[in-house]
Amino acid sequence: MRICVYPGSFDPITCGHMDIIERIVDMFDRVVIGVLQNREKQPLFSLDERLGYIRRCTPGYENVEVEAFDGLLVDFARAKNALYIVRGLRAVSDFEFEFQMASMNKKLYPEAETVFLMTNTKYSFLSSSMVREVGRWGGCLRGLVPGEILPDLMKRLKNSL
Ligand code: COA
Repeated sequence: MRICVYPGSFDPITCGHMDIIERIVDMFDRVVIGVLQNREKQPLFSLDERLGYIRRCTPGYENVEVEAFDGLLVDFARAKNALYIVRGLRAVSDFEFEFQMASMNKKLYPEAETVFLMTNTKYSFLSSSMVREVGRWGGCLRGLVPGEILPDLMKRLKNSL
């Protein structure tokens, strides 16, 4: 069984993330979306909010599970029996960090492969921090975040000012 982990902060999930998810559900038997619990940068959305938003956007996928993780990604991937780590690449600027991360993960978990997917070009400018910034000031997020969570997310972001 081909199992992959698709990790990230998802603060919050965007259409760019959804585009990757929609493509990997057909490539792998099981997709585990791993939401990083702790990071140096304090997330705007709580862990429960981030998990909840992703779950609301992925109810139709039988082979998708959404889980929080803490600590090393490779430990999470091992615990899930995942031999694949999926990452989206938006632009050349993403490459250096992704290259370092994939190399370190390979050292720590040699059996696993990092699989890179090109982010759809229509989302190459998109990031969660941009969504937070635009939403905070009342800008429209239609087409940038999944429709299932759009109204709630816009309300929540306006209230975060
Ligand atoms: N389309 C558009 N934007 C995308 C995208 C896509 N397909 N995929 C990612 N992004 C954006 C995100 O919105 C995010 O934007 P932001 O920086 O404004 O918040 C940015 O790209 C990076 O986000 P993400 O993919 O969630 O990665 P991350 O850097 O937040 O998290 C982890 C990376 C979780 C994989 C990494 O930190 C990790 O593995 N941590 C665990 C600790 C560990 O194992 N460390 C050793 C590894 S070397």
